[in-house]
Amino acid sequence: MHYRRLGHSGLKVSEIALGSWVTFGSQVDEDVASDLLHSAYEAGINFFDNADMYADGRSEEVMGAAIKDLPRQALVLSSKVFWPTMPGPNGRGLSRKHITESIHASLKRMDTDYLDLYFCHRFDPDTPVDEVVYTMDTLIRQGKILYWGTSEWRAWQINEAVNLARIHHLAPPTMEQPQYNMFHRRRVEMELSPICREHGIGLTTWSPLYYGILSGKYNDGIPEGSRASLDSMAWIRDRITPERVAIVRELSQVADDLHVSMAQLALAWLLRRKEVSSVITGATNIRQLQDNLDSAEAVEKLSDDVLEKIEQILGNYPDED
Ligand SMILES: NC(=O)c1ccc[n+]([C@@H]2O[C@H](COP(=O)([O-])OP(=O)(O)OC[C@H]3O[C@@H](n4cnc5c(N)ncnc54)[C@H](OP(=O)(O)O)[C@@H]3O)[C@@H](O)[C@H]2O)c1
Repeated sequence: MHYRRLGHSGLKVSEIALGSWVTFGSQVDEDVASDLLHSAYEAGINFFDNADMYADGRSEEVMGAAIKDLPRQALVLSSKVFWPTMPGPNGRGLSRKHITESIHASLKRMDTDYLDLYFCHRFDPDTPVDEVVYTMDTLIRQGKILYWGTSEWRAWQINEAVNLARIHHLAPPTMEQPQYNMFHRRRVEMELSPICREHGIGLTTWSPLYYGILSGKYNDGIPEGSRASLDSMAWIRDRITPERVAIVRELSQVADDLHVSMAQLALAWLLRRKEVSSVITGATNIRQLQDNLDSAEAVEKLSDDVLEKIEQILGNYPDED
């Protein structure tokens, strides 16, 4: 396992992380979740991603139980706040009140004294950015979180947070968590990349396999038990378009030629980017986890010719327009 600095911070995160969305507390049982987490840890993964709203809080409880026999100091645990998790008008968003209530609830569910990383799960137009920055700084000073960051914030919103933090001598955001994969790349490559360089923000990217589609598993229909087969995830079926399947089929040929799996090719393609501190993967079984872990070796196989071939197949290289 390789470790990368989280942006310009001193924290080292495994370049491959394991997240718990859809899986922990819902799609897989507690034993499978625990096996996945322990196998990931043994393979060198130190960063485990979570959110207060995953499985209505169950995901944090399952992760909290699974880490009990692991050394807390070796783990980088995250959670997030924004989406509705509590009743009433203050049960969501990024107000000082909801962030404070939410961190306490997350720490309790994870049964831990602090979170390493805490993300604002979206931008909240109802809360002034300085209220968010002050609140996050307070949580850091209280030792409840170590680093704070954003998820799916626009570059100008992150800029505003960084500038406010600088003016008031508060802790600026350290990381941003955007979706980034072969089908969804514009935001990272065109908008976030420059602010990562300017402010030392590290990216911890999500849905690297575009919900599993980039593993090639949907090339011949929807396998039973897969994410797209779940009633609660029916919307993913609309993303499995004939055009995307045709692209994944062509990319699978590139992967075959390199003697790597399609998932490894898709993950390696993300890992080649320096502004990516960690690619957050998801898995429902150990075979998938192992497949994804091996992507680190596939990065070396991405020669200029291979990258050019991938660009031709994807046909979505982002430009200024
Ligand atoms: N910040 C945010 O807004 C946000 C949003 C979404 C996710 N996230 C984070 O990012 C993490 C990863 O997102 P994701 O789960 O959507 O990632 P993903 O890699 O796009 O999809 C993961 C799913 O694909 C399937 N899969 C994974 N590896 C595979 C392989 N090698 N071969 C075949 N199938 C494979 C599994 O589902 P099946 O076995 O069920 O098919 C797995 O659960 C989440 O857990 C969460 O921590 C953050």
